[in-house]
Amino acid sequence: MAKPKFIEDRQRLEKLAPVATAKLNHHVFVCGGKSCSKVGASEVKNAFVRELEARDLRYGKESKGRNPEGTILLTDCGSVGFCSIGTAVLVYPEGVWYAQVQAEDVVEIIEKHLLKGEVVKRLALIEMTGVPSD
Ligand code: FES
Repeated sequence: MAKPKFIEDRQRLEKLAPVATAKLNHHVFVCGGKSCSKVGASEVKNAFVRELEARDLRYGKESKGRNPEGTILLTDCGSVGFCSIGTAVLVYPEGVWYAQVQAEDVVEIIEKHLLKGEVVKRLALIEMTGVPSD
């Protein structure tokens, strides 16, 4: 395997990866692991896609039906250890890990958490507190 050449030029990096300069408010990960997939992960992901795109919030290429000015990045992730309590949905920068998420919970997560900053407590299992200050 060839080692890629390290790129130091910031402008070149940003051109190669436009997401690096996106004005994002949130990054949402939906687990696509085996166990979560058995309890509806793809329906959860599809609900996020449908609802975020309907609100024009999903960051991404216009050619893919997304908004280059969108403020929410939606990505798949692998298993995070919530296998018995999926579907796992992680929201950053807050570091909130939601468990047992069903497709019908997605509008609530978008409207409360992503738009108003209110964690959906009934589904939140982990709320990271961040790095303590000195
Ligand atoms: S498969 Fe989703 S947390 Fe393990």
